[in-house]
Amino acid sequence: LDNGLALTPPMGWLTWERFRCITDCKKYPQECISESLIKRTADIMEKEGYLAAGYNYVGIDDCWLEKERDSNNRMVADRQRFPSGIKALADYVHGKGLKLGIYQDYGTKTCAGYPGVLGYEEIDVKTFAEWDVDYIKLDGCNVETSEYDTGYPAFGKLLNETGRPIVYSCSWPAYQNNPNYTSIAKHCNLWRNYGDIQDSWASVKNIMQWFAKNQDELVKYAGPGHWNDPDMLIIGNFGLSLDQARVQMAVWSILAAPLLMSVDLATIRPEFKEVLLNEDVIAVDQDPLGKQGMRVWAGSGCEIWIRELADGSYAIAFVNLREDGAPVTLQASFDVMKIPKQIYKVKVGIQFN
Ligand code: GLA
Repeated sequence: LDNGLALTPPMGWLTWERFRCITDCKKYPQECISESLIKRTADIMEKEGYLAAGYNYVGIDDCWLEKERDSNNRMVADRQRFPSGIKALADYVHGKGLKLGIYQDYGTKTCAGYPGVLGYEEIDVKTFAEWDVDYIKLDGCNVETSEYDTGYPAFGKLLNETGRPIVYSCSWPAYQNNPNYTSIAKHCNLWRNYGDIQDSWASVKNIMQWFAKNQDELVKYAGPGHWNDPDMLIIGNFGLSLDQARVQMAVWSILAAPLLMSVDLATIRPEFKEVLLNEDVIAVDQDPLGKQGMRVWAGSGCEIWIRELADGSYAIAFVNLREDGAPVTLQASFDVMKIPKQIYKVKVGIQFN
């Protein structure tokens, strides 16, 4: 989407994978979807180097709404969990130098059953703009998937008409069999292509395989202002070892993926924080050329992923997916890596021991 935004893949933090639809703040005071979770996260992002590293969007996913609209049909944030309202929260987040993202759904209800935008698009877009929201993730539950091809562009047009710069994240292709990526890239800044990430290595591998399988089609549509989205970073949670976390960070960066952390930044272990803050790998993700990389080779349980960068260099990830635990030798010729034969200076970004 050519709205001047997301010229490199958006970076930030999003509630869903780690905090899901936890709404019981009595039982789970640290984890429930609430303004205190967002404020706590914003504070840490600003203080502990995440914002400085480029993570500047803090996002509320599903389960922030009251179950009913108000008497003027306006959306209302849950009164218990967001007592100050979204506008005040946006002000708070902006005061930290961050931007606020929020979730809605194109259908009658969100995926978790809260009121969706269908039938209320105009009033909802107006409300988001009045609240000073900077980023909208528009999901696609509870509506005919055939409606997407006109519905998502129409909603984007309304966003544009507010005059407020709002990043538009679509879930449009994730629900369709043969998505029209030309139209999607024209109308969205980023889009979820595939199913939800879960907190496991199996899920990370599954997403990697899906992106590798479909890469010839997908890479064409990535570039400044429009990105494929393999879903959130689960780094620092319960499902990945440290090395597996490094794989997700490296491969997502080669994929020019949005880097949306979904983790409790208050309790993340330092070694995982270090992975999320790795400057060299972030620089690959944020490379201004905006060219999505590819898996160029797979064999012997290993893979080579490569991305061409703006300065003519290449980012290369050698990924070992084997489970035997013993060292393995890879012979990576220029032909195998599909890069020009010339002399290169090699810089090792993430060291695996
Ligand atoms: C869908 C999306 C997820 C999340 C949930 C919320 O499953 O793909 O990323 O937003 O809905 O209910």
